Amino acid sequence: MGKVLVSTGRGGAGKSTFVALASRYLNPPKLLIDLDPDESLADMVGVDLKGKGKKTISGALYDAIEENKGVGLTGYNLLSDVLQSVLYKGREFDLIALGTKFTVGCYCAPDAVLKDFIPSLVEDYEELIVDSPAGLEHFNRKVVMNIDDIFVMLDPSEKSAKHIERVRDIIREVKVSYNHLYLIGNYRFSEETEKYLRGTGEAYLGKIDYDSNVRQYNLEGKSLLGLPQDSPAALCVRRILKKAGYKIKDGDLTSSRARK
Ligand SMILES: Nc1ncnc2c1ncn2[C@@H]1O[C@H](COP(=O)(O)OP(=O)(O)OP(=O)(O)O)[C@@H](O)[C@H]1O
Ligand SMILES: [Mg+2]
Repeated sequence: MGKVLVSTGRGGAGKSTFVALASRYLNPPKLLIDLDPDESLADMVGVDLKGKGKKTISGALYDAIEENKGVGLTGYNLLSDVLQSVLYKGREFDLIALGTKFTVGCYCAPDAVLKDFIPSLVEDYEELIVDSPAGLEHFNRKVVMNIDDIFVMLDPSEKSAKHIERVRDIIREVKVSYNHLYLIGNYRFSEETEKYLRGTGEAYLGKIDYDSNVRQYNLEGKSLLGLPQDSPAALCVRRILKKAGYKIKDGDLTSSRARK
C-alpha cells in the first residue's frame, strides 16, 4: 500500500515545484497526480501528455460521454476506458492529470472519476504524489480521502499565517484523514522570517532555497528533473523528504552537497 503525499498552499507558493523535485528523490513505482485544472505539472517534469497519446481526466470523460451517447455504458466500463486513456506510464514515474474542463459547471465528474481510481492506484505504487490547485477548495472536494503527509508550502506573508489556520480548520471540519501536516517555507523566506514558521506549533521541515535555475527552467518550459545534482532547491526538497521519514532513491547522491 503506497503513501499519499499532498502538496498544498496559496497561489504561486511553490507546490508544483515541490512535487516535481520530490519525484526525483522518491523510490519507484510512483504516481504523480496533477489536481490543478491549470495542468502545469506534466511540463515541469518533461512529459508531453498529448504527444504520448494521453488525455486528461476531464478530456477523456468528455470524449467518452460524447462517443457513447445513448449506448448506455456502465460506470465500470466508462471508468476502465478512461483509465486506459489517461494514465501515462514512464520509466521513472507515472502521471495522471485532472485537466481543464471546457464546459460550464463544477469539476464534480472528473473529481469523482479520480476519487474512484485512487484506492486501486494506491495498491500499485510506493507513492502517490499529489499537486493541488491553489487554495483550500480541493480539501472540500475530498478527491484524496486518505492522506499520509500534507506538505503546506508557504510564502512569507500575513496571508500565509492565516492560511495555516484555515488549513487546520478545514481539514478538521471536512474530516480529511491524514497522518502528518508539515509546513515548508518557500524560497522567499529569509532566516529571520523563517523564525515565524518554527513557532506555529505545527511541524516545520525547513525552507526551499532560492534557485535561479528553477526560475529559468520554468520560464523556458524545461523539465525540473534536468536540474543539476547540486541544485539548491532540489537538495532542500531532498532534505525535507528525509526529515519527513522518506527513503531517498539510490543513485541521486553523487554531488558533495547531496552527501551532507
Ligand atoms: N526555489 C525556487 N527558487 C526560485 N524560484 C522558484 C523556486 N520555487 C518556485 N519558484 C518559482 O515560483 C513560481 C511558482 O512556482 P510553482 O509553479 O511551483 O508554484 P505553485 O504553488 O505550484 O503555483 P500555482 O498556484 O500557480 O499552481 C514559478 O515561477 C517558479 O519558477
Ligand atoms: Mg502549481
